[in-house]
Amino acid sequence: MTTPLTPAGLRCAHLTDPLGVAPDRVSLSWLLAGTGHGRAQTSYQVVVTQEGGATAWDSGRVRSSDQAGLGYQGQPLSRGGRYTWQVRVWDEHQTASDWSEPARFEVELDPVDGWGEAAWIGLGPIKEEFKAPAQAGPPDPLRHALGPAPYLRRAFTVGQPVAWARLYVTALGLYEARLNGQSAGDAVLAPGWTDYAQRIAYQTFDVTGLVHDGENVLGARLADGWYAGFFGFDAKRAGAHYGQAPELLAQLVMGFEDGTTQRVVTDEHWQAAFAAIRHADLLMGERHDLDREPHGWDRPGFGRASSQGAGWRPVQARERDGRPLIADPGPPVRVTEEIGPASVTAGPQGRLIVDFGQNLTGWLRVAVRGPASVRIRHAEVLAADGSLYTDNLRTARQTDEFATTAGPATFEPRFTLHGFRYAEITGYPGDPGPDDIVARVAHSDTPATGSFDSSAPWLNQLFRTIDWGQRGNFISVPTDCPQRDERLGWLGDAQVFARTACYNRDVAAFFHKWLDDVADAQYPSGAFSDIAPRLNIPWAGAPAWGDAGVVVPWTLHKMYGDTAVLRRHFAAMTRWMDFLERDNPDYLRTRNLGNSYNDWLAPGDDQTSPELLATAYWAYDAALMAEIADAAGHPDQAAGYRALRAKIGAAFAGAFLDDGGQLTSGTQTAYVLGLHMRLIPDELRPAAAGHLVDAIRRAGWHLSTGFAGVGYLLPVLCGTGHSDVAYRLLEQDSAPSWRYMIDHGATTIWERWDGWTEQRGFQSAWMNSFNHYALGSVGEWLYRFVLGIDQAPGQAGFGRLLIRPHPGGSLTAASGSYRSVRGLIRTGWQRADGTFRFNLEIPPNASACIRVPSSDARSVRDGTGAPPDGVAGYPGLPGVQEAVFEVGSGTHQFSGPDAWAGRIP
Ligand code: BGC
Repeated sequence: MTTPLTPAGLRCAHLTDPLGVAPDRVSLSWLLAGTGHGRAQTSYQVVVTQEGGATAWDSGRVRSSDQAGLGYQGQPLSRGGRYTWQVRVWDEHQTASDWSEPARFEVELDPVDGWGEAAWIGLGPIKEEFKAPAQAGPPDPLRHALGPAPYLRRAFTVGQPVAWARLYVTALGLYEARLNGQSAGDAVLAPGWTDYAQRIAYQTFDVTGLVHDGENVLGARLADGWYAGFFGFDAKRAGAHYGQAPELLAQLVMGFEDGTTQRVVTDEHWQAAFAAIRHADLLMGERHDLDREPHGWDRPGFGRASSQGAGWRPVQARERDGRPLIADPGPPVRVTEEIGPASVTAGPQGRLIVDFGQNLTGWLRVAVRGPASVRIRHAEVLAADGSLYTDNLRTARQTDEFATTAGPATFEPRFTLHGFRYAEITGYPGDPGPDDIVARVAHSDTPATGSFDSSAPWLNQLFRTIDWGQRGNFISVPTDCPQRDERLGWLGDAQVFARTACYNRDVAAFFHKWLDDVADAQYPSGAFSDIAPRLNIPWAGAPAWGDAGVVVPWTLHKMYGDTAVLRRHFAAMTRWMDFLERDNPDYLRTRNLGNSYNDWLAPGDDQTSPELLATAYWAYDAALMAEIADAAGHPDQAAGYRALRAKIGAAFAGAFLDDGGQLTSGTQTAYVLGLHMRLIPDELRPAAAGHLVDAIRRAGWHLSTGFAGVGYLLPVLCGTGHSDVAYRLLEQDSAPSWRYMIDHGATTIWERWDGWTEQRGFQSAWMNSFNHYALGSVGEWLYRFVLGIDQAPGQAGFGRLLIRPHPGGSLTAASGSYRSVRGLIRTGWQRADGTFRFNLEIPPNASACIRVPSSDARSVRDGTGAPPDGVAGYPGLPGVQEAVFEVGSGTHQFSGPDAWAGRIP
């Protein structure tokens, strides 16, 4: 049964119905529903309508199979304008679909002039009043550095029913916006982190249902956040990182039936007070004195009773400067899940140790039934004596406190973030009930797009562990870790993990936002910084870190078929390439390597030559730049980059490779990079792959790759006839290995292969996070090789697929999926009784070359009993063949003789 091809799931700028999109970011995409085989879109028509009914753009019927990344080409979009859009498509029989359900987008306000009279408001820098502790003991030095959180309010009257209302709001710091006692939207830690000196993101909320005829109150609470709080590994600077104290900027615009509007902006008419939140800091935590909560402060009528309103005073207002205010291009941070305790155990001195069973990023919500003074500390792991192990947090305190002389009360911090699996609660009155303690999981809201399941429970846990590491570290920017005093947007970590991240979750808008931070952090020399946003850390140009400026946009292009991101950053990328070439005229990247982290955290003494690694990455950049230049419409520059790639390749071979395929640096990473980045000529690839396997054998069948090499290790082995070695590393259960982490309780990927070992216990407390995603870049291999979900060479955007599973090891089955920009791709295989069975689902408007491995490819059959279209060699293992089938969309089954029959241990 075939149903009509129907467009659905419309998105603009990689978001659903965004309320703020910069005009140059409007790019449209849709998914297609429709059953049957070989379904294809042959044309589309898009119509964009401005509010009021005027057609802003009618594309007419366009003969194209594109369904993503369609740039807007209509009338100029008006700032703050509201648009709806619809699409219809023609299928493979030229049958037109109905028009889709309408989707909408609203255009970013003018970044400088769109904010009218709105001013920055706050209460200025006031630190918590210091009281000497009652008992003897050193005073707490942080008390001088942490400030109470201002509450701000503005009452206003509306004279008629409100037809629509939008709140445009941001802060230097963090804000929580309130309207008539309710939260405006569900974003947390807004507005997120940018280089506030260069651009400030704002959010837009549809608050139509929250304002009404009569008296209303718009309110907000503010905290230091990334702007003025503790952050990174340098102690808070005298002037904090960007400024001294948080400030709010907002405008509420209300529209009425008669077409008139009313505006409430932040200005000197607002009142503010310090109240229950005595301090709130991302690294240090929060302290709430719940008795000081001014109940009703964010509702009409507050302040009329004489007991209310004490301490409220006019805000300090400051005129805006010319810094651009941009509609946040990324998804907001949200609470995406709540997790109850797996266990609560009583420790000494009335302390509770709560285990959530999962290392996560967020905070606790704790309810008490009476008076209480409670302290909550957070840690990723426990020490041998069962207490929290906090040495690896360095100076990050991750401690929340609250007190109430009444009760019942519920405490929940708003402006902090902790990386933890365990919490120690001191002072909890009585025994907590089942719902009294809850972990709230917070991160950039990037919906899951990938799934994985197999016959190996530990491997399924590895998959979940990789994803949890991603969730815990994608917090407005991709960070290295969520617990210690660091939490920075390291480019190297993001670079190695980007492809895995894209398979796991929809991170298109998230990375779009961050790539602007990367561009903001680029130096005039062209060097990309090691960290973005870069704070006051001047490090730049490190190999595998700076290269993220090329690799990440290219990865987004590959995964989302997105050329806009390439065009947007093309100039920055070429500046980077010029920077590399200027300093290295002999085409060996030996100069200006910055901090050269090299193959960061490679186990043991396995040190790859920094110049080899750097030159390999430069060659890779050049190859990617050729593809990027072609896709971005610069064919001349593409030719230039191909020529550059050839020169670097020749220099690399001259300096680092002998004619037996041996590299001067015999590390696994050296061979992995040389092979992956195709710096070893075809005729020497088998020999070089043999040297790689020798290096693995010498390490006792262990990997020895750090951040720079680990992601390509298993793909390279599978691509050079050594699938068996790839699986041997995958299933290796002694350290260093992924399985060692899992077998020793990892629920997020560790920073170091030896973060904890039976022999030595914890690695150096100085640098030992248990939630760092880089070593989880093996996730890409699970999708592309184990499940076989990949694209045909040279393709971007999953229109033309290469489905090529690589079964192996002791796995008897694997299945999973990836929701691409063309829709859901699902595969599954089983090995049983000498037969390999493979089934898959291809979304409409995609086609695939299926390659089924078999000991006798000619006897493989599809679901109708038809033989393969052809037979080819399988790259995973010598002597194995592949049955090749060409298919269109729909579900498909194949079965044939298992190449591994008898090889399952
Ligand atoms: C971070 C890393 C980062 C590295 C640079 C560490 O402190 O946690 O993940 O990439 O420094 O070498």
